[in-house]
Amino acid sequence: ENESFQYDSAVRYRDGSVRLRNPNIELMDQDILYHLALGSGSHDLVEMFGDVKFVCMGGTPKRMEQFANYIMKEIGHKIPAGTTLLDISQYSYRYSMYKVGPVLSISHGMGIPSVGILLHEVIKLMYHAKVKDPVFFRIGTCGGIGIEGGTVVISEEAVDGMLNSYLELPVLGQLVRRPAKLDRQLARDLKALAHRDDPYDTVIGKTMCTYDFYEGQARLDGAFCEFSENEKMDYLTKIHKAGVVNIEMESLSFAALTHHAGIQSAVVCVTLLDRLKGDQVLAPKEVLDEWQIRPQQLIARYITRYLQRR
Ligand code: URA
Repeated sequence: ENESFQYDSAVRYRDGSVRLRNPNIELMDQDILYHLALGSGSHDLVEMFGDVKFVCMGGTPKRMEQFANYIMKEIGHKIPAGTTLLDISQYSYRYSMYKVGPVLSISHGMGIPSVGILLHEVIKLMYHAKVKDPVFFRIGTCGGIGIEGGTVVISEEAVDGMLNSYLELPVLGQLVRRPAKLDRQLARDLKALAHRDDPYDTVIGKTMCTYDFYEGQARLDGAFCEFSENEKMDYLTKIHKAGVVNIEMESLSFAALTHHAGIQSAVVCVTLLDRLKGDQVLAPKEVLDEWQIRPQQLIARYITRYLQRR
């Protein structure tokens, strides 16, 4: 915890605003955030985003539009009668972004490359907008290991398919490693918001982040499979023993890039199945829709409590 504080203070300005670890940006006369359809020259980013406190990300545009409407109700944010929320990034044709008072709700697509590109631009957006001490959340879906479908998992750290807790990226022909650390206190604070009478469990554990949904997650049902069911079960049992409770495809990049930027972050995912019992996502759509609201509920509890304290 101490270490993460020192780390933060090295990359943030004293007033909490996000400092970019890139000297080039302030020398440019404008910065185009291409995949968000925004720019520091074309938009007044301080006016548009200066009051942001929470950045919530999840895979699909629909889910993040739903979350925006849900958090609007929860925090009592009002928009003019007869209007709907606007997708600020609609003309990027890549990601969707909604703003509800101090909350941004953004889709990140599937996988490490997609979420990584988005994070570069959202972290720069925080810098241009002079946002202070933003908190980033990923609200997603995952496969569980040894836990029932519909369980909420808060990640204590992210590991790759080799159980290494860093993101490795080739840069100029060299592999650069960034620790995939998440804020442990934030994870505990979120866990404390689980209600005793929630009709599902909320657990903390390690999250494995893979580069693939099928072979990379030890599934037998992809277009290709070159291992046996026994080998699959040995691997899942091994990672479970190492503390992994769920598998998804974005946490490694999410944890590594927010940590590198000195931004507090957490990953909260709902399990769609127990991978010790199967590979296919079999639950009916209505059940899946109900499950996907669970991480949103937890984050909404955190945000509403934060806003009430002020
Ligand atoms: N997302 C994943 O990455 N894996 C699953 O099994 C379910 C959702």
